[in-house]
Amino acid sequence: MKKEFNKNLADLNTFGMSITAKEFVPVTSADQVKELVKNSVFKSPFFILGGGSNVLFTNDFEGTVIKNEIKGIHLITETEKDVTIHVGAGENWHETVLYTIDQNWGGIENLSLIPGCVGASPIQNIGAYGVELKDVLTQVYFIDLESGEERSLSNTECHFGYRNSVFKHELKNKVFITGIDLCLSKQHSLQLTYGAIMDQLSSAGIDNPTIKDVSNAVIEIRQSKLPDPRVLGNSGSFFKNPVIPKSLFDEIKKSNPDLRSYPAGDSHVKIAAGWLIEKCGWKGKKIGNTGSHAKQALVLVNYGGASGSEVLGLAKEIIRSVKETFNVILEPEVNIV
Ligand code: FAD
Ligand code: EPU
Repeated sequence: MKKEFNKNLADLNTFGMSITAKEFVPVTSADQVKELVKNSVFKSPFFILGGGSNVLFTNDFEGTVIKNEIKGIHLITETEKDVTIHVGAGENWHETVLYTIDQNWGGIENLSLIPGCVGASPIQNIGAYGVELKDVLTQVYFIDLESGEERSLSNTECHFGYRNSVFKHELKNKVFITGIDLCLSKQHSLQLTYGAIMDQLSSAGIDNPTIKDVSNAVIEIRQSKLPDPRVLGNSGSFFKNPVIPKSLFDEIKKSNPDLRSYPAGDSHVKIAAGWLIEKCGWKGKKIGNTGSHAKQALVLVNYGGASGSEVLGLAKEIIRSVKETFNVILEPEVNIV
């Protein structure tokens, strides 16, 4: 393991925040993580970094950043109906999706073009276009950072929810995820009802789509509204879509008939944070070097040279104005460090 000192992380986070890590170590195997546990690296401030696509650094990091580079994809079991594969946590998520599509294994095509590494995917149970990781994940493998032991959790033990899992609660900062198992289908059942997928397919003249067609449609939709981090720094949706009581939804809807809701249990509904932010007048607004994106209000961007605290300042202003206008409290989805 080659340790670097005072490493600049600007190219290793999609917001493009130019901050320095006091120490930086890439790891390529579970054994190397165990060695770091033995050397007490996790007893001092540390941060595990994947693709850096769900993090806002607000300061230099006065500890050790451990970059996950544990690679490898292999087949575990295969039946007539499905396959189970193991994917190393340092594999790129989108490349993994493309690999599974090439093998004609279905289940994660709707999750195309989500940036980042496989290891972070169970943490917030990544989701898009009507599919979440929990729909295909069977096992998560990790190193316990206290004992150095290898452990694993089944799907139910992960307590997955919307942008949520046990890794954001009881196991927060206690584990290093080394890999996951996914069960993918050889007899495809396509998820086409969400958002603009059907429209996208029909405008391409496709009536009988394959998983590759669905992936292409999702990629087209995403590219039409989400800024490419290589061009404009961002971390995707900055906030989660809020889940609010139905009574509050009815109240807001009275004066806003265009407000849509999504089911979230008997007494609550989920509403679009992007809609709330747009209604408060933030969409497309540039403040200093940061702002809310012109095509997707929920995405906060770095126009170049923004600091993490500048973006955080804007996020706080947005939270304040949405609370004042709608009495809804937005929660960040991005990890603020
Ligand atoms: P990082 O940002 O590196 O890390 C995120 C968190 O996980 C950090 O707290 C980190 O310490 C922890 N972590 C990372 N790896 C490990 C590990 N191996 N073990 C333990 N902890 C770890 N998300 C969605 O769900 N759906 C979307 O549609 C979506 N679209 C996006 C679009 C854009 C343009 C961008 C920039 C982001 C988008 N995201 C989306 C958010 C992001 O891509 C996901 O959250 C992704 O899973 C983050 O992966 P990462 O490797 O970049 O994680
Ligand atoms: N909307 C607006 N104005 C905006 C943006 C959105 O009014 O500026 C409203 C529209 O009514 C639109 C609705 O919000 O129909 C939903 O918008 P969109 O389909 O773009 O999705 P989202 O709810 O904003 C969520 C995820 C995305 C994921 C997409 C597609 C969260 C926090 N975000 O966004 O995930 O890709 O759905 O499934 O749940 C991410 O997590 O980083 C991310 C990009």
